Amino acid sequence: MAVILLAGGAGYIGSHTAVELLNVGHDVVIADNFCNSSPEAVKRVEQITGKNVKLYEVDITDREKLAVVFEENKIDAVIHFAGLKAVGESVQKPLVYYRNNIDTTLSLMENMNKYGVKNIIFSSSATVYGEENPVPYLETMKRGVCTNPYGWTKAMMEQILEDAAVADKELSVILLRYFNPIGAHESGLIGEDPRGIPNNLMPYVSQVAVGKRECLTIFGNDYPTADGTCTRDYIHVTDLAIGHVKAVDYILNNRCVEIFNLGTGTPYSVTEIVDTFEKVNNIKVNHVYGDRRPGDLAECYANADKAWQVLGWKTERSLADMCRDSWNWQKNNPNGYNN
Ligand code: NAD
Ligand code: UFG
Repeated sequence: MAVILLAGGAGYIGSHTAVELLNVGHDVVIADNFCNSSPEAVKRVEQITGKNVKLYEVDITDREKLAVVFEENKIDAVIHFAGLKAVGESVQKPLVYYRNNIDTTLSLMENMNKYGVKNIIFSSSATVYGEENPVPYLETMKRGVCTNPYGWTKAMMEQILEDAAVADKELSVILLRYFNPIGAHESGLIGEDPRGIPNNLMPYVSQVAVGKRECLTIFGNDYPTADGTCTRDYIHVTDLAIGHVKAVDYILNNRCVEIFNLGTGTPYSVTEIVDTFEKVNNIKVNHVYGDRRPGDLAECYANADKAWQVLGWKTERSLADMCRDSWNWQKNNPNGYNN
């Protein structure tokens, strides 16, 4: 079994991935500065799995401090989750986003080079397909024109990693393009814990249901979709985490430069999300229809065939599971990790 460094591993997707890696017997090292997470998440990972995680509080952009992590551990592969991810904030503070997201990547890559670590898996996003490509998105499509600085950081980091793999024939790179992760671990012990007003749909829905927010605004109902609201490819975060385990298996056994979509391939509308959440949890979610949100695409969903063909991975959890587990986390932890 291998030693996997999760950069940004205390966050939403990283903590769920840590659980699944530990469950199959890998050792997990987490490096995080907790700028958008809590050390409590790592304690909960240990509670769920009954295993220890080696945790470093470090700003990954700090190359020298990060070197200590590489010095003290014989790392076989890195999964790079560390980044800022709020689309709207990235428009307001583009330099902060470019500095943090690009620098975490360079600092990791430079340390990997120095310490002879040859495998990196990167958290990319469906946002790199831009506006031009038709749905469903295929990995062979060209990266598109992104609509915000956050998206551009992802596109640029994909390019940086691909260039590094051209120069170093021993370096393996897997770019995982996530669609819309929602849900939480079935234990209800870990989940998404956004700071302030949630930007994303599911945390907002859950916070309305628990009484922390008054009412959900559904952004636009005049899109060219079946019910007029936007459609997305929502994926259960545990399915996504298991996708990382498969990617680790693959990268440890193959020299590769590969892109994989991690989605279900099935789009659901905003209205379908709200209806399913209300039905499976038997709870009301107050909502109104409002204006479109600038930058939103009408539709976004994956062709998920490649991950199945090459990694033997496909999603197993339904939209009902996603809504049930999101609510289970929210109602047991109304203030996230600050209870
Ligand atoms: P998250 O904010 O919960 O996790 C990111 C983690 O990185 C946090 O723990 C944060 O503290 C840490 N971090 C950020 N900058 C750091 C730095 N300089 N040094 C050390 N730690 C740092 O986000 P998430 O939802 O778990 O997303 C993980 C990755 O997946 C991100 O790169 C994100 O852009 C990408 N992604 C997320 C989504 C989504 O909808 N959640 C979709 C596509 C891609
Ligand atoms: N929505 C609402 N009301 C809200 C929040 C969201 O109606 O309060 C709608 C949005 O308009 C959109 C859908 O719910 O139609 C999903 O919105 P999210 O903000 O949850 O997700 P996005 O698809 O906009 O963004 C996600 C990730 C980004 C990533 C992007 C493209 O959060 O990181 O997918 O891959 F860049």
